[in-house]
Amino acid sequence: MTQRKLGRGVAVVGAGMSKFGAFPGQAKRDLFVEAFQEMRASVDRGLDPRDIEALYIGNYSSDLFENQGHTAPIMADWVGLAPRPATRIEDACASSGVALRQGMLAVASGAYDMVLVGGIEKMTDLPTERVTDTLATAGDVTYEIPAGFTFPGFYAALATAYMDRYGATPETFMHVGIKNHDNGALNDKAQFGARITDIMDSKRARAIQKGYPVPEWEDEWEFLHDDRANPVIAWPMRLFDCSPISDGAAALLLVREDLAPSFSDAPLYVLGSGQASDVALHDRADLTSLRAARLAAQQAYDMASVTASDIQVAEVHDCFTIAEIIATEDLGFFPIGEGWRAAEEGRSARTGPQPINTSGGLKSKGHPVGASGSGQVVEIWKQLRDQAGERQVPGATLGLTHNVGGTGQTCVVHIFERR
Ligand code: COA
Repeated sequence: MTQRKLGRGVAVVGAGMSKFGAFPGQAKRDLFVEAFQEMRASVDRGLDPRDIEALYIGNYSSDLFENQGHTAPIMADWVGLAPRPATRIEDACASSGVALRQGMLAVASGAYDMVLVGGIEKMTDLPTERVTDTLATAGDVTYEIPAGFTFPGFYAALATAYMDRYGATPETFMHVGIKNHDNGALNDKAQFGARITDIMDSKRARAIQKGYPVPEWEDEWEFLHDDRANPVIAWPMRLFDCSPISDGAAALLLVREDLAPSFSDAPLYVLGSGQASDVALHDRADLTSLRAARLAAQQAYDMASVTASDIQVAEVHDCFTIAEIIATEDLGFFPIGEGWRAAEEGRSARTGPQPINTSGGLKSKGHPVGASGSGQVVEIWKQLRDQAGERQVPGATLGLTHNVGGTGQTCVVHIFERR
């Protein structure tokens, strides 16, 4: 593959996000304003929003979730950017990772010097069944969906194929859920923001309050094996293997590289970027790896002239726990077929040698699908600027984001450096 470099360098000089969670009744535009304001406050040397030249915003399906199409100009209006060009990017759950790539390419091309990149999704106004149907439209409705695949079903198929080939067990996946809830408990933006043991405590307290029998789980393992507390959604994926249904927004400010020091004391330079697509599920040779992820990662590593072993902190697309294990292999952090052992051995823990999803990941931080890719960058922004508080990975200067759309038919990977 040809090694590509950007026409001119691009830097992130501001990043912010709304809290992720379920906010019934709250308008999507207000979530985006919250993210924009936090982004604005994060620009060390100040930002005059009138200098922003364009908006690229990831949004999967405001049409079906909210009966509202044409989201980009509405978001631009609400943060005071009209009449600047505003473009919505739809690539399923990778929408705002791809929006970042489009914004970056626009700056690299010389078309703009400063662009706003965002992500937004408001999912919780629909009941779960309708959310499931809406998400399923990101699969191939000619082949995948008539075969009975929902998104939990699709990732369950990957999980069974993976277990069959490499010897992982349903308990392997629980290690990922426990880790990501532990990380999310340190993140005030996270939807759950609680360890699994904290969730057990609140369930016991609720039972006492209501006069119900109090569950007697010895530890989180017993809780996670309890079919009532942690029901099977699509075997072997249980409730605590799934990302939740979420609302949320994120915003990033990109500028041409040489302008970065006039906005930020510690900008993040976009070192690498890659994106790839794949065929539908029935045409794939292998269900234990996502080819689009491997290709996108290789492009990003080549552009950045780094390898997986150089990456000190990564946010990967753990929409289901199996997805994190496969991602850690596709990205080259662990050898193929070894990701499950690495998860069990704590090698992807916050304090382990290859910290993955220090934010809590989509599992615990939440997964407002169109905002998830840009939300990942907010965590890398904090980590590389030494602003991640209790979940800080000491001394991290090189970070990666990995954002997947649909049944793995899109993947986009970015690598960032603080110099
Ligand atoms: N993990 C842990 N707990 C969860 C959860 C999750 N993913 N989703 C919901 N819960 C909890 C709720 O907090 C609530 O707890 P409580 O009883 O203590 O208050 C309880 O489960 C019931 O919540 P509810 O919203 O009624 O759950 P649900 O059964 O309607 O939905 C899922 C659960 C797993 C079906 C839903 O979250 C889902 O579809 N997730 C996958 C989303 C997805 O596919 N995204 C795209 C990926 S590519």
